[in-house]
Order: sequence, then C-alpha cells, then structure tokens
Amino acid sequence: MGKVNQTMELLPISVVGLGGWGKNVVRSFSQTRRAKLCVLCDENEEVIARQAVLYPYAATTTQYSEILAESNIHAVALVTPSPSHFNLAVQALNAGKHVFVEKPLSLTVGDAKELVALAEKKQRVVMVGHLLEYHPAVNLLKSLIQTGELGDIHYIYSHRLNLGVVRLEENALWSLAPHDISVVLYLLGKEPTHVTAVGQSYLNPGVEDVVFLNLRFGEEHMAQIHVSWLDPHKERKVVIVGSKRMAVFDDMHPSEKVRIFDKSANVKIGTANYVESITVRHGEIRSLIVPNQEPLLSETQHFVDCVLDGKTPRSDAHDGLRVVKILDAATRSLHQNGMPVEIL
Ligand SMILES: NC(=O)c1ccc[n+]([C@@H]2O[C@H](COP(=O)([O-])OP(=O)(O)OC[C@H]3O[C@@H](n4cnc5c(N)ncnc54)[C@H](O)[C@@H]3O)[C@@H](O)[C@H]2O)c1
Repeated sequence: MGKVNQTMELLPISVVGLGGWGKNVVRSFSQTRRAKLCVLCDENEEVIARQAVLYPYAATTTQYSEILAESNIHAVALVTPSPSHFNLAVQALNAGKHVFVEKPLSLTVGDAKELVALAEKKQRVVMVGHLLEYHPAVNLLKSLIQTGELGDIHYIYSHRLNLGVVRLEENALWSLAPHDISVVLYLLGKEPTHVTAVGQSYLNPGVEDVVFLNLRFGEEHMAQIHVSWLDPHKERKVVIVGSKRMAVFDDMHPSEKVRIFDKSANVKIGTANYVESITVRHGEIRSLIVPNQEPLLSETQHFVDCVLDGKTPRSDAHDGLRVVKILDAATRSLHQNGMPVEIL
C-alpha cells in the first residue's frame, strides 16, 4: 500500500461503540501518539454521557451517518457487536475512511472476502482487533520460534477459560477463539489444512458454552484451542512444544508470564528395544522478561502508524479473513459432531 497520508501529522479518528470493550479502546486511542480522538459515537445516549465527561474535547453523536459524512474524520474504530462489523466497515470504506474493526472481522467468509477486496480497491487500511498479536509475551514466543530456540515446533495448545461472561447470541467459539486462532496462525506463520471442533450448549440451547477446536497443519503441526465460559478456572495460557524446548505463556501469572522449559524427548535409532530408544531430558526452567507494554496501546498505536506511514498492519483484513475461515469451518464441524472440515 502506498503512502496514503504522507502530509498528515495527526490522524483524526472516531470511536464507534463505547460499551464494555469500547471504553477501553477510546481510552487507548486518547493516549495513542499521532492520533486525534475527535468524535465519540454510540447509539445509546447514556453510554455516550458516561464517556463524554472523560474526553471533553471530543464531540459526540448517536448517528454513525454523521461520522461518515464528516470529511475531516479519516478513520473509524468499530467496537460494536460482531453482527454489525461488516455493514459498518463497508460504509466507512465507501466513505473513504480507514477502519479499525474489532474481532471477528465478519460473521461469514464471503463478507470477510468482500472487505479484503474493498480495502484494496479503496486503498484504505483495514485492521482487525486481534489483540494478542500485539501482546509482548506473544511476540516473545514468536521470536523464540524464529530464532530456533524451541527447535522444530511439534504442537501448540491454548486455553481461554473462565466462569462468565456468558454471551447469549454468539457461542464461545466466535466470542473467545478469534484471539487464540490468530495467535496460533501468527506463531506458526501458516494456515491449517483442516479443522475439527466439538462443543456443547449447557446454558442456552444452540449457543455452545465450551468448545474444543483442533487445527491440523498437514502432517507437520497441530494445535488445540479450548475455550469456555463455564469453567472453574480463569486461565489464559498458550503452550508450545518444540523438539528442543517447550515454552509456556501464562497471562494470569503476575510476574512469570513466559517460561522456557529446557525439556525434550529424543528417539535413538538402532537401539534394541523401545524403552532404550527414548531418552527424556529435564533441564532448567527459565522465566523470561516480558517487556512492559500494554497490548491495547500497542495495537491502537500500530493502527495509527500504519495509516499515517502507509504500511500494512500485522492483523490486516487478510488476517481477519484467515481467522473467519477457521471459525466458519469449525462451526460446520461443530454441527457435524466433529467431522474434519477442510480449509479452502
Ligand atoms: N479485543 C478484545 O479483547 C475484546 C474484548 C471484548 C469485546 N471485544 C469485541 O468488541 C466488540 C464490542 O463488544 P462489547 O463487549 O464492548 O459490546 P457491548 O454490547 O458492551 O457494547 C457495544 C456498544 O456498541 C453500541 N452500538 C451498537 N451498534 C451501534 C451502531 N450502529 N452505532 C453506534 N453504536 C452502536 C451499543 O450501543 C453498545 O454501547 C465486539 O466485537 C467484541 O467481539 C473485543
């Protein structure tokens, strides 16, 4: 993408949707370098009133159409419920705005493809809120993989568990797993060949509270993602098992978020029996220093920098599409009792 805003020093932006997550996004854009928070938008006046007192310099509106019509606003951040992402993003792109949109990019593969195409046609940045791709611990894991510290990657698993928040419309897969899927794709740098998923609805018929999603990357790698809002633990964990070492990212740990386990198992060729052929190695456990950066601020900063410097975001519309393709395939597998579904 070319340098679309070479002469602009500050990016005038409006945040649309100021609810549970939107208030965090507003706060983050208000602290983002080179961003100018201009308008707060929510269709609920009470919600606006709560945020307006914190940002008295920003205008407010309940009408999204007013933002679209305002040529001085160059970017919108859409933090509205997921069913609205596609329509609001299409309208913003057609009005010439750059778009930050919360995860998931859309609810269908077709809509996500349309957003990829429209962003390219309009030469505008579309960035999806795959927050964990901006987490310093995830970036540390990525560099451990890239430098070969862990050896060949065998498999990854990820847990995102808690008691609540129970959603009534989208299931645990669509609500929670976009983060874990984006992390697995980011870490492995490739897309799965097929997925399987099983899950169960205990609280609301048709809305799965717990889902186990498996991703196969050909014969090479595999990943499992366990998401649930019906679990005794609050757990946010990613485990990577490599041929040389293993790494654990535990986001709930107050001080030791990333640890490397110098452990592995090796197979000796040509030994007389199975027991002799396997050696396991138990080395030291090291805790790594994770840079003290707030993921949300890194994410909003990345969006503003990409728009102003004409760069492509890490979590661009293509990344959003890859995640939606997996969510869609996993949904089909869920509805067919865990049948493998190919990712096309
Ligand atoms: N990145 C993360 O970690 C994270 C965490 C939570 C939620 N989210 C995402 O953020 C989005 C919002 O989730 P939430 O929990 O804040 O929802 P919410 O229901 O608490 O808030 C949504 C707000 O959007 C407003 N809204 C809806 N349609 C609108 C429209 N057309 N114009 C203006 N305002 C409109 C509603 O009035 C409401 O205040 C979802 O896409 C969700 O997936 C991301």
